[in-house]
Amino acid sequence: MERTCLAIILAAGESTRMKSALSKVLHPVAGRPMIAHVVDALASASISDVALVVGRDADAVSAAASTGTAKVFSFLQKERLGTAHAVLAAREAIEKGYDDVLVIFGDTPLITGAPLKAARERLAEGNDVVVIGFETADPTGYGRLIVKDGELFAIREHKDASEEERRITYCNGGLMAISGAKALDLLGRVGNANAKGEYYLTDLVEIVRSLGGRAIAVEAREEELTGCNTRAELASIERLWQQRRRQELMLAGVSMIAPETVFLAWDTELAQDVLVEPNVVFGPGVRVESGAVIHAFSHVEGAHVRAGATVGPFARLRPGADLGPKSKVGNFCEVKKAEIGAGAKVNHLTYIGDAFVGAGSNIGAGTITCNYDGVNKHLTRIGENTFIGSNSSLVAPVAIGDGALVASGSVITENVPADAVAFGRARQEIKPGRAPILRERYEAEKAARKKVKAAE
Ligand code: UD1
Ligand code: CA
Repeated sequence: MERTCLAIILAAGESTRMKSALSKVLHPVAGRPMIAHVVDALASASISDVALVVGRDADAVSAAASTGTAKVFSFLQKERLGTAHAVLAAREAIEKGYDDVLVIFGDTPLITGAPLKAARERLAEGNDVVVIGFETADPTGYGRLIVKDGELFAIREHKDASEEERRITYCNGGLMAISGAKALDLLGRVGNANAKGEYYLTDLVEIVRSLGGRAIAVEAREEELTGCNTRAELASIERLWQQRRRQELMLAGVSMIAPETVFLAWDTELAQDVLVEPNVVFGPGVRVESGAVIHAFSHVEGAHVRAGATVGPFARLRPGADLGPKSKVGNFCEVKKAEIGAGAKVNHLTYIGDAFVGAGSNIGAGTITCNYDGVNKHLTRIGENTFIGSNSSLVAPVAIGDGALVASGSVITENVPADAVAFGRARQEIKPGRAPILRERYEAEKAARKKVKAAE
């Protein structure tokens, strides 16, 4: 039978070093709170029972962690007395009885399911405590793993370590799998006689050994265990996340000319044979289908770009932009909450908001859908195969019928029927030979003014 598992996420820290009005686990990585990435990693390891230990910003942290299908129960740690004390805040959850209890920190958003699975497998082999460790060039601040003959003897916190122990580069990643049957007994035995006067979770290793149990360490990549304590660490976590995701997408068939300049959100979906040019930023909620091209310097958020469509350069797609197959949104255009039909072209300097543009239509440069009257937003409906002349203002609510033609510079305030031509501006007047007469008059007026000035 499959073993049951409870994951306990510790997120009750003060986040002092972040210097922020926000708990650090709420700070976004790839456009989404750090804590949600951790919950996702648990889900990818098929762990659905989650106890979240919260302190400051308890409600916001709980809400941010309630993502996907995980059942997240929050527990408040009223005082911050150390990591073992924090785990015991979730006592009620542990008491339900699980085969495995997995402790994980809320500030390690790069963690994936693989080391979690590995830790649980080693637990299933009969170990009582399994610690995920990593090798690092700079172990300062981390607990050191003291390993002999394949067994983990102890974890020594940096502050409590001897000179010799501090030379150890194998460190505690903060992730620990504990036999569910023994967890509460072991945790109850932790004391606080150490340099920080805290109840250290890491003491479980020596405690379990003293009771005849077995502890081991499993190595994972340092990157996955990078913790976030400062804004500078937040930035390097973001960088690592971006690198990892770009790599995945390129291996899945996405082309990026300068991947280091492309910024992805946690949920950006780019299909095979999408080309992303340099300096493109994706906000959350974007899906780009096969063969589409996102040209340089575009900002895309909450948008669906269908097969073969092209965007930019210098385009902005805002939430609700839905670009049909082989459509084009060109330079200095903004599209918001609007459908652009198949093959339609919105090529230059245009704003299309709260609108439908039918297939095959051509929207001239400088066209604006005037969707806002200062109070309410209104819809513009543009039919199929229309031609909207440059620099037209379509004052919503308004509809342009299929095949209609709007003269450039029009201000359209009333519906245009299908196949009609609309001149939404004064007609041009021609007065033959009139220019020299006007010019003469202007010269005379100028001379008269000069005369008056001289007389003053
Ligand atoms: C901890 C480990 C250390 C390990 C390092 C890895 C202990 C005693 N030390 O040290 O061996 O190398 O992580 O990053 O476990 N927390 C609470 N309540 C508390 C105390 C902490 O919720 O009372 C939470 C924090 O929010 C954080 C996590 O537990 O998410 C770790 O606490 P932190 O103080 O950052 O531990 P470190 O000193 O980094
Ligand atoms: Ca830490």
